[in-house]
Amino acid sequence: MDFAHQTVLPREAVGLLRPGAGRVLVDGTLGGGGHSELLLEQGATVYGVDRDPRALEAAGARLSRFGTRFTARQGNFGELPRLLSDVLPVDGVLVDLGVSSPQLDEASRGFSFQTEGPLDMRMGPEGPTAAELIRTTGEEELADLIFRLGEERFSRPIARKLKEREPTTTLEAVDAIKAAVPRKAWPERIHVATRTFQALRMAVNGELEALDGLLAALPRMLRVGGVAAVISFHSLEDRRVKEGFRALEGQCICPPGMPVCGCGRRGDFSVLTRKAVVAGEDEVARNPRARSARLRAVERVR
Ligand SMILES: C[S@@+](CC[C@H](N)C(=O)[O-])C[C@H]1O[C@@H](n2cnc3c(N)ncnc32)[C@H](O)[C@@H]1O
Repeated sequence: MDFAHQTVLPREAVGLLRPGAGRVLVDGTLGGGGHSELLLEQGATVYGVDRDPRALEAAGARLSRFGTRFTARQGNFGELPRLLSDVLPVDGVLVDLGVSSPQLDEASRGFSFQTEGPLDMRMGPEGPTAAELIRTTGEEELADLIFRLGEERFSRPIARKLKEREPTTTLEAVDAIKAAVPRKAWPERIHVATRTFQALRMAVNGELEALDGLLAALPRMLRVGGVAAVISFHSLEDRRVKEGFRALEGQCICPPGMPVCGCGRRGDFSVLTRKAVVAGEDEVARNPRARSARLRAVERVR
């Protein structure tokens, strides 16, 4: 099976996770297996999780040479404590958010506004499709979701048109969006449907909920010395990661000069990336998708 996805920030993400013999790491977004392969090459044991059975199959074949050091499991990284209850705690967790190139490129998955396909957008086999979501969500709620997750200022007319037409294919949805946004207001640098498609995809897959689930579970998942690293692709996610890591770190409010912390406000974690790590020019030239990638990491220190 052809399942080619260009791994983003490979050196940077893998460096932060400090793979090595004896380190047990979780790749919560296995995808094409690119990050996992690098972690395995450096001697780590890796549990690879993905919602998409096709990703698991392709990555499983790519990584089979590592034998028992690699295990693949299907599931949502927002539920890792349940999925990996027999494995946790571990020395590291990586998630590389969003969809993979093969998911985007396959018309039948319904992620693309460029090719005709069923309006599906599910990363895994469960749950309602984007077409069902439009059908079963009230107009106002749909508009809110398009505004919040897509940062689309024409969310109200778009929601009205989508409800009116109830599209079942990607290009029917694109036509509805085009009809809702005045021609002169179409964005110049992105497709007029980009923001709405992003919002629908995030809602269909509960993407922010999964991220919140992961952030909340980190204290139960990592050993001392364990690292969590997240690669996100837009500001909504990056902000959540930044704030979530800061909250884990906590803030000591003891007066300066105290030999040990007595306030208890200091958390068990320390942020490893004061500023988000971004891709260098070389990587962006090779892989334009890397342009918006933001990598942040946090370590359990006590
Ligand atoms: C950007 S790709 C990962 C690419 C991978 N790091 C590589 O280098 O090949 C994201 C993958 O994460 C999966 N995914 C996204 N959200 C998920 C979630 N909440 N739980 C499990 N898998 C998820 C998608 O199905 C997709 O295969």
